[in-house]
Amino acid sequence: TKDKELIRDSWESLGKNKVPHGVVMFSLFELDPALLNLFHYGTNCDSTQDRLASPEFLEHVTKQVMLVIDAAVSHLDDLHSLEDFLLNLGKKHQAVGVRTQSFAAVGESLLYMLQCSLGPAYTAPLRQAWLNMYSIVVAMMSRGYAE
Ligand code: HEM
Repeated sequence: TKDKELIRDSWESLGKNKVPHGVVMFSLFELDPALLNLFHYGTNCDSTQDRLASPEFLEHVTKQVMLVIDAAVSHLDDLHSLEDFLLNLGKKHQAVGVRTQSFAAVGESLLYMLQCSLGPAYTAPLRQAWLNMYSIVVAMMSRGYAE
């Protein structure tokens, strides 16, 4: 369908440069520094800047989150094949104390990153197509979280 085409085309170049695009998704954590406390390292007294620069945080945003999105894009025709993985991923986030509402914030930063990277190609239908895909991912993660 048209939606899948929009997603695949826009991800084609972004997906090859996961690190810089993941970095744009930092915006979320600057808006809500409390989320940074969920990454365990250093001391309780580390500043927001220290936490943003830590390897665990960088890995999460540039690799882990981006890889899940990459997997979703490559399984667009069959997102349910990722169900076990995403249920389990939701459980892991429950275990580390992430609230499910925060998944929506990651979605906002994903859209922000797309907007920054795509410029005029970031259209309303494209935004909606991504939102739909991300909602399915989050719904599965949240279900695993609740189980
Ligand atoms: C693991 C935090 C959202 C993908 C983790 C860990 C933390 C964390 C603390 C464990 C430590 C680590 O590996 O760095 C958060 C926070 C989120 C969030 C605060 C929301 C604000 C997401 C989302 C995705 C994701 C939306 C995917 C779309 C992953 C993956 C792992 C992980 C793949 C590794 C799981 C494993 O070890 O098997 N996250 N996360 N996270 N997160 Fe997140």
